[in-house]
Amino acid sequence: MSSHASSPTANRHLDRLDLTERPRRLRRSPALRRMVRETRLSPDLFVYPLFACEGHGVRREVGSMPGVYQLSVDEIVKEAAGAKAEGVSGVLLFGLPAHKDDVGSGAYDPAAPVQRAVTAIKQEVKDLLVITDVCLCEYTSHGHCGILRGEEILNDPTVGQLVKAAVSHAEAGADIVAPSDMMDGRVGAIRRALDEGGRFTDVAIMSYAAKYCSAFYGPFRDAADSAPAFGDRRTHQMDPANVEEALREVAIDIEEGADIVMVKPAVHYLDVITKVKETFGRPTAAYHVSGEYAMLKAAARNGWIDEPRAMMETLTAIRRAGADIIITYYAREAARALA
Ligand code: PBG
Repeated sequence: MSSHASSPTANRHLDRLDLTERPRRLRRSPALRRMVRETRLSPDLFVYPLFACEGHGVRREVGSMPGVYQLSVDEIVKEAAGAKAEGVSGVLLFGLPAHKDDVGSGAYDPAAPVQRAVTAIKQEVKDLLVITDVCLCEYTSHGHCGILRGEEILNDPTVGQLVKAAVSHAEAGADIVAPSDMMDGRVGAIRRALDEGGRFTDVAIMSYAAKYCSAFYGPFRDAADSAPAFGDRRTHQMDPANVEEALREVAIDIEEGADIVMVKPAVHYLDVITKVKETFGRPTAAYHVSGEYAMLKAAARNGWIDEPRAMMETLTAIRRAGADIIITYYAREAARALA
């Protein structure tokens, strides 16, 4: 049987190219691809955000975040234990207080859901890191991250409130406090208050150092009931167009005593993660935020993307960019996929 003139094998010239480099050689099998893989994920990298609310036996799914729940303290302990069993390093706690006021005083109420959740998790789940988000927006009646004068968000009086919140989280037993408010000077003020009298010198600060004013926090505000009643967060959160400013923000927070610095959101700010990691060489966290999670969930529910693959590709990209720590609502799902 003679080959047809147009068949590929008929062209002797292209039959075997004389190549020295054949990158496909190392992609031939799963074993080869695994051996030369440059970026690896592990559940150790993951921090799992959780929302603590009042009540008992409460497990209320957030409409815009499938798989994410508002949990009463008893339920949050179970969820944290599940995450720990799957290898996740830590949880990041947010709170839904029973009462809000115009200065966010619930943020430092020792009997509020976050403070009780911290103590319960530390007691019942061994070796799981408990990190608390420090901000006022969940606790103010107007949903802003600070104290207002008219429509202006005041910096320095807000820092005083944040300090009280951070200290109350430390008193409850938090390993790490994570100020997410973007007020100037709050890292230094929190550090000084924690160190006062040597009380909490071992409590670390993970600062939301380069936190952008992002559209991708939308679903979170459903979860935490923290949407601002008017206006937005542009006077304190960063302009998405800026990266030099991110480096200045990170430098200031390190100077003030931040142990871990965070970039947020993650996927649209991979360049910022890389620059922060390369410039400062500090433990660097990236927050894969609610909107980034919700987009994947929504597309997957419509059958438009393969969710397990999209999830792993996303988390790998964040890691590849330079993140040492990934805060993600996918923490448990991804940990299970890696097992
Ligand atoms: C509190 C806070 C927010 C997020 C983390 N801490 C909301 C905001 O800044 O409006 C967003 C997290 C997410 O979208 O998953 N200030």
